This record gives sequence, structure tokens and C-alpha cells, in this order.
Amino acid sequence: MTVISSDEMSSLLTPINAFLQCETPHAWLEEAQKEENLRIILTDHLICELKAAQSAMYLLRRYVADDATSKTLLGWLKPYEDFTYRHEGDWQSLNTKHLSKNVFNTEGLDPFKKDMLNKMVLLIKEELHHFYQVLEIMHELGFEYKSVTSSRYANGLLRHVRTYEPEKLVDKLICGAYIEARSCERFAKLAPYVSEALGKFYVSLLRSEARHFEDYLNLATQISSVDITERVTHFANVEKTLILSDDKELRFHSGVPVFQEAP
Ligand SMILES: [Fe+2]
Ligand SMILES: [Fe+2]
Repeated sequence: MTVISSDEMSSLLTPINAFLQCETPHAWLEEAQKEENLRIILTDHLICELKAAQSAMYLLRRYVADDATSKTLLGWLKPYEDFTYRHEGDWQSLNTKHLSKNVFNTEGLDPFKKDMLNKMVLLIKEELHHFYQVLEIMHELGFEYKSVTSSRYANGLLRHVRTYEPEKLVDKLICGAYIEARSCERFAKLAPYVSEALGKFYVSLLRSEARHFEDYLNLATQISSVDITERVTHFANVEKTLILSDDKELRFHSGVPVFQEAP
């Protein structure tokens, strides 16, 4: 498997591991690599890819797009949402070829909004492409898509987002950075324990998710009028608690698996 050199792997993971305050617990890794759990891990991963696109879309609609563009943007996600939540449409016809930042009117946008637009449009296209790639793998494995409930992870982070601007935006961006960074760390951890094809896919995801983490953090730094270290530390602790505490459900971002009811 020569899709990534050990130098590149460590240059991607060093900032990720410095940002995250804990490693994925061994108990999660043991559970997640089990053959019988592959379907749930892939299905949850699939839905996480859509959620990543939806979160970035929310930022564009809330902070950058005018009303007409906002409507166009909703149309970008509709076939993916129809498939995921309403079990409608043919997944093989999903594609991101027509998605372009040219739909935005950039006249009068400040440099922050322009930067956010560029980063988030690219991120949305990549997440939706990942969504398709996960479906391809599920199809090859004979896993028909069935919805699963979300893990507590993203909501556990987002409930700490402040309710007033610009702090709300800063916090959402920091949460985005944590979700991307943890995904990256888990792809690297799982890759050696899954099939060669899936391992290669996970490694290919490392590069884009590592950049997404940096993009979110960079945007948070730009938009905040004060140093964001304190907020980063706050979310680091929340994230660490979610990862290291007991969790009854196995999901891509779940905590320490505890499935047996106490006698
Ligand atoms: Fe992704
Ligand atoms: Fe991502």
C-alpha cells in the first residue's frame, strides 16, 4: 500500500495530534474494526460526509449568499438529502460536476467572506464526492443503505456554541475544525485494520480532511477580534470528554464503547 509516504503521513498527523487533546481509545478501535461493525461504521461515515457538506452550506447561506444564491445552494444538496433522509433517487447519478463558486455574486464581499466562500465551496464539493465514494464502497460490499441514528458527538460540541455574533461563528468554525481533525485521526487509526481497498480510501481522505481542519481554524482566527486560544481550549476539553467517556452506541465519532447493560 504505497498511497502515502510515512513522511507525508506524519506531516499530516502532527498538527492534528497537537490540536486534539487525546488519542482515540483502543477500545473504540477494537470495536470499530470488527467485521460485523463495518456496515454501521460506513453508514455513519456516509451520513457524516453529508453533514459536513450541510454545515459548510449553512455557513455560506447564513454569512455569504444573497437570497437567490441561497436557493441555488439548497438545490446542490437536495439529491443527497433525498437519498439519505427520504430514500429517493439513484445514488449513481449523484455528482458534483455542476457545483461552482461562480453562482455567487462576489461584488462587495469583504476578504473574509471571499475566503470563506472559496474554502467552503471546495469543502462542500469534496464532502459530497466523499459521500459518493463511501456509497461506492458500500455497494461493492453489498451493503444496501439504511439510515442510522446520529452519534452524540457533533451535538455534544455544538451545544457549547455561543448564541451571539461574531462569537457564534467563531465557535462554529472551531467545532468544524475539531470534527474534521478527529475524522482525520480516526481514518489514520483505522486504515491498517480494514481491507486494502478501504484502507487506501481512508488514507486518501486524510489529505482533504487535514486541510479542512486547517481551513476552519484559519477562518476562526481571521474573524475573531480576540485571540481564540481560550475557546479552542474549551472545545478541546469538551471534545476530549466526548471521546473518552462511555458511549452506548458505536459510531464513527463515538466514545468508549460500553454495550452491556449492568446486571
Ligand atoms: Fe469528508
Ligand atoms: Fe472534511
